[in-house]
Amino acid sequence: MRIDVVTIFPDYLAPLDLSLIGTARRDGLLDVRVTDLRDFTHDRHRTVDDTPYGGGAGMVMKPEPWGEALADLLDGADSSTGRAAAPVLIVPGPAGERFTHAVARQLAVEEWLLFACGRYEGIDERVRDHARELLGADRVRELSLGDYVLNGGEAAVLAMVEAIARLVPGVIGNDASLLEESHSDGLLEYPVFTKPARWRGHEVPPVLLSGDHEAIALWRREESRRRTAARRPDLLPAEQARVSGDSFALTIAVPADAGELWTLTRACWFPEVADHVNHADRAVRPAVETLDQFRDTLASGSPWRTWVLREPTSGRVVGSVRGRLVGEVWEIGRLLVAPDLPSQGLRSALLARAVAHADRGARHARLVSEAQDARHHRAYKRAGFRVRRDVPSAPGTIVMECPLPADGSSR
Ligand code: 6GU
Repeated sequence: MRIDVVTIFPDYLAPLDLSLIGTARRDGLLDVRVTDLRDFTHDRHRTVDDTPYGGGAGMVMKPEPWGEALADLLDGADSSTGRAAAPVLIVPGPAGERFTHAVARQLAVEEWLLFACGRYEGIDERVRDHARELLGADRVRELSLGDYVLNGGEAAVLAMVEAIARLVPGVIGNDASLLEESHSDGLLEYPVFTKPARWRGHEVPPVLLSGDHEAIALWRREESRRRTAARRPDLLPAEQARVSGDSFALTIAVPADAGELWTLTRACWFPEVADHVNHADRAVRPAVETLDQFRDTLASGSPWRTWVLREPTSGRVVGSVRGRLVGEVWEIGRLLVAPDLPSQGLRSALLARAVAHADRGARHARLVSEAQDARHHRAYKRAGFRVRRDVPSAPGTIVMECPLPADGSSR
């Protein structure tokens, strides 16, 4: 693979001589060339920037040096490589599409990548328009590493080249390690350990010392799922809940869901509000909680794990449930379904999901129900819950519990 980088700071790319990328260059797998944009200026000061049309802070990179640099690299292509004459032009910048593992995979099969490093407020937009005419619209890509601002594209190019080049066959020695790392299957990687088995009071999880490869694979899959749910719930594929022929998508709730869920929660608890004058009453707290208080329970630091149920076509939020670990008890709460829908099947699907995803340390799942609510009691009993008269609860409520497998193996 040929990689060109055009920059006003060629020295910034020196790390591309090191480690696996450096070795791949020496082995002839990667042909990396760094070009100084100022070589394509013609004034004494080697000027590459100018003030923005329309005013505003900062400077904009002038189009002429970029036009000449691109022409020079593209012209030289046929004769010097004898290979593909059209690179993919990559313009790193915070306004680009997100650079992901999937994008790295697409780019890893290209023969030639050309990175154009902007500085200041960016490169005159016409440079991209011109490049699209030369290369084709789909061969010019603006890519961003994430939602923050770097001073220029160079650090981003180091990151992108490393992410792309390691997917080029032969660049890293052990292709198997590519298969098991974070993002390769859409989940985050499980935690890893090496010797000694005990270090500063911390043990390696015993299953890893068991020699039972099936148990180890299971444990790793579960840890990946758990980690992804805690840190990056947006990466989890939606599970499908089939209810009377319809398929609903169940996902972990994130703070962006707060507005819809809060609104639905208030709607579901409205009957209780209407029945109670005293709003300090526990029974109506879900209905009087503020949006900010509610949103905090969806943040990653919250002990609650909340699931949302959506209608597949409209994406509308129609149900929710949440759980948290307190001691050995998996407390399930806020089980709700939009009041305009037939609730029974959806409630059962949500409850089953909340039980199935109980924290591994939990011995019992517990929920609190209105004492008068016979219809829901029957549904909870069908799900394996039994009344616990010995566990104290607020007046007018009862506690119901369901035992969980000790090792969490079914979860
Ligand atoms: Cl690719 N470039 C710059 N300048 N800032 C960034 C970025 C790229 N990705 C995130 N921030």
